[in-house]
Amino acid sequence: MCGIIGYIGEENAAPILLNGLKKMEYRGYDSAGIATLSDDGILLLKDKGKISEIDQKVNFLDLKGKIGIAHTRWATHGGVTYENAHPHVSCGLEVATIHNGIIENHHQLRKKLMDECHNFNSDTDSEIIAHLLERYYKESGKVKKALLQTVQTLKGTFAFQAIFKHEPNIIVGARKDAPLVIGLGKNGNFLASDIISFIDHTDKVMFLDNHEIVVMRGKRMNVYTFNGERIVKEITQVAWEAKETSKEAFAHYTVKEIHEQPKTLRTAMHQNSKKVLDFICAIKEAEQIYITACGTSYHAGLIFRNLLARIAKVRSHISVSSEFSQNVELIDEDTLVIALSQSGETADVLESVSLAKEQGAKVFSILNAEGSSLSRESQMNLFFNCGPEIGVAATKSFTGQLAVIYVLIFSLVDDSKMSNKLFDIPRNVEKVLETEKNIIKIAEKYKDDSDLYFIGRSIHFPIALEGALKLKELSYNHAEGMAGGELKHGTLALIEEGKPVIVLNPKDHTYDEMLNNISEMKARGAKIIGVSNRPNGMYDDFIQIPKVDELLYPIVEVIPLQLLAYHTAVLRQRNPDYPRNLAKSVTVT
Ligand code: G6P
Repeated sequence: MCGIIGYIGEENAAPILLNGLKKMEYRGYDSAGIATLSDDGILLLKDKGKISEIDQKVNFLDLKGKIGIAHTRWATHGGVTYENAHPHVSCGLEVATIHNGIIENHHQLRKKLMDECHNFNSDTDSEIIAHLLERYYKESGKVKKALLQTVQTLKGTFAFQAIFKHEPNIIVGARKDAPLVIGLGKNGNFLASDIISFIDHTDKVMFLDNHEIVVMRGKRMNVYTFNGERIVKEITQVAWEAKETSKEAFAHYTVKEIHEQPKTLRTAMHQNSKKVLDFICAIKEAEQIYITACGTSYHAGLIFRNLLARIAKVRSHISVSSEFSQNVELIDEDTLVIALSQSGETADVLESVSLAKEQGAKVFSILNAEGSSLSRESQMNLFFNCGPEIGVAATKSFTGQLAVIYVLIFSLVDDSKMSNKLFDIPRNVEKVLETEKNIIKIAEKYKDDSDLYFIGRSIHFPIALEGALKLKELSYNHAEGMAGGELKHGTLALIEEGKPVIVLNPKDHTYDEMLNNISEMKARGAKIIGVSNRPNGMYDDFIQIPKVDELLYPIVEVIPLQLLAYHTAVLRQRNPDYPRNLAKSVTVT
């Protein structure tokens, strides 16, 4: 969840690190800090709050030194306080560390180190790393040895980095179940949780794998296993361009990413046909298929299952990744597990995949982030390549996932007519984006309603769930998404005069039944906001979407719901890019 970046090179570290932190703020934004190594030893500035607020207060650029580490936090252990912000330092400012993950044995280690007279300043599990490194370094005077002893002592998950007061030319890092990637720049090298934090400087990267450490000394760097064996890493050139991480003319990343969708959809639809073929062969050969995903990716998974059943006549199961272990007894070597994820770093997804692999299952993934942990855990990947998604709420990654899913389904049933219709969808998304003014009006009208309902049937049901999720996470209004048929089993009791209900109601096989639902709700005073290609007198407000093939409505109808959530958030003076309590990459289970 937290974002970490380190720099070692010829330039002043602080501005580079500050820029990197800003790029990663979506990962966590309750506190931040930077530590550099200068002629005067370790210098440290940190605080709680958003990076720009902290910077105004402390002026990070005052930090001198060409080596440094920086952290943006999403609290797990210990409240949001100055003391709990990273970097953490050992006694006497000998070592400074930043950490992403959870150290499970920190209580025992803390007690042991306190018995040895180490003083702790924070309530975090992370601080333990600084004290351990200091302790072991003092014993041997060797950085690599101290690092190996530290990783062998720690239990839990971590990507951490450290600098040492008495090692003026070194940054070290270690990785276990949390991302860490090396960037190879012209004037210096980087070590970070996210490529986008340094992509302005270089697109050449080396991915650390689990149970690996790196010692970066000047321009050189050596990677070792936790047993100390040297490893030669491959250099990868990543495709993302630096400009894609700017807000351009938009007020927020979220709305920029919503508007990017015609372009990102086109990119996602262009898949390598050989890889698609391999993917569909695996689907055909598998005895059983399980889909695993979280949050918005789970909603894409629900549509995948719907299409596999309806169109390809393939049976599949789906579960949110955090509940995947319930299926473990049923998974075997004839199972294909398909993981869906934007980041490829969601801890619950990774855990489900690891369980599946232990049972001998094949794991294929549909994801965005190249080089992510999930991509390296999977036997095969299809990337939807929508570029970095900075807004915490998933938008373009959702439609990107759907595009790949449609490509797979239509290839599976060899339906070139539908493939052509799919290629027309970005144009229809453009048309929906042109109706933004109408959606702003609707947002203004309903922004203060504390409960909203989203109703859909069949393939529209996952979009109802997604619409409600978007509204909740961006505007903090309570929202519930449900299948139209379920209304009468409870929720109808809540429908009263003026209650807004958003109905996903394109003219397809669900239309008439939805009209019945609408009548039931109107009879109880609900205000109906219809999302459809066809106007209807029963709607109090109407969001027009273009007519497309019935199977393809999900991509088109989710766009106004994303816009509605975004504009409601803005009107309610929420920051849609950084919703409270949430993080983009949830790297804890
Ligand atoms: C977090 C994000 C959601 C996202 C979910 C799954 O909760 O806030 O927007 O849908 O993680 O993320 P993934 O990267 O695995 O798709």
